[in-house]
Amino acid sequence: MDEKKRILSGIKPSGDLTLGSYMGAIKNWAELADSYDCFYFLADLHAITVRQNPADLRRRTLAQLAQYIACGIDPEKNTIFIQSHVPAHTQLGWVLDCYTMFGELSRMTQFKDKSAKNADNINAGLFTYPSLMAADIILYQADLVPVGEDQKQHVELTRNIVQRFNGVYGETFKMPEPFIPKMGARIMSLQHPENKMSKSETDTGGCICLLDSPDDIRRSFKRAVTDSEMSVRCDPSKPGVSNLMQIYAVCTGKTMDEIEREFDGRGYGEFKEAVGEAVVTLLTPIREEAQRLIADKAYLESVYRAGADKASQVAEKTLRKVYKKVGFVAR
Ligand code: TYM
Repeated sequence: MDEKKRILSGIKPSGDLTLGSYMGAIKNWAELADSYDCFYFLADLHAITVRQNPADLRRRTLAQLAQYIACGIDPEKNTIFIQSHVPAHTQLGWVLDCYTMFGELSRMTQFKDKSAKNADNINAGLFTYPSLMAADIILYQADLVPVGEDQKQHVELTRNIVQRFNGVYGETFKMPEPFIPKMGARIMSLQHPENKMSKSETDTGGCICLLDSPDDIRRSFKRAVTDSEMSVRCDPSKPGVSNLMQIYAVCTGKTMDEIEREFDGRGYGEFKEAVGEAVVTLLTPIREEAQRLIADKAYLESVYRAGADKASQVAEKTLRKVYKKVGFVAR
């Protein structure tokens, strides 16, 4: 029996990976690999709650896998897999749908936001998405779920489902905890710093992707929205500057006080340039390694095949236990 605690997390390949997903999630995944038994997946089942172009979804899923590895998620130490390769996710997802309340799902902020943005496609999958996410977590009996701030509500709902199910059938599932980083849990758009940086942001310049060229990154930071005050200070009334400070802090490991001192008396121009340069330094090796891996289809295939095998073993064990508890006849 492995004594290490278990971690699970995933990202939808519904757009290119962003600096937000990196700082909120992936960076911490890479740091946790040695102390935990980690499962990281590509949430393609979740991606289709919003209409996707099939060829783009396939290409992005593989590119995202390459980027996970380039970010330091070593497939030898972590189990990396594609969600649709492990049917137990949808199988447990259905069971959990029957233990998740309509009212609970109606309260999910992401459902409300996404149905406002996709008014012509408010499908049932968009609504039941959190119970599939709960299945993702529960199948691996995860102790810890490293995510950005926006996913906290879904992990809280998972905890409610665990409590409900265990209450009816006895101890079946581990109670998962969200792991939200102190810095970088909510990276905001560079153009609209009151909104989260998001892959669906069509407005270019507000969102940085891991594969963006250094010139594009520098340009986006140069154009980043600040304020008219001219002081580098972290304050809720200064969302643009505070966001840039946060990004700089994650890149350099400096504290907010250190950053304030570093830019004391210097203009926003210099500050924005320094943040852009820090992001270029952070992302350049990731981009180069990801591009090399994207071209190596055979290697990526070997990673996701091995990942699916390992993940299925764990997931099917949990699923069998659940089927038995709810009263299905064993085949
Ligand atoms: P997704 O694909 O929207 O986002 C992936 C991860 O990146 C984090 N994130 C951010 N963090 C900081 N600042 C931002 N601007 C930012 N944007 C995104 C998200 O919090 C998330 O951790 N439902 C999930 C995917 C999922 C999942 C799971 C996660 C499916 N099943 C099971 C954990 C466990 C989602 O839509 O993430």
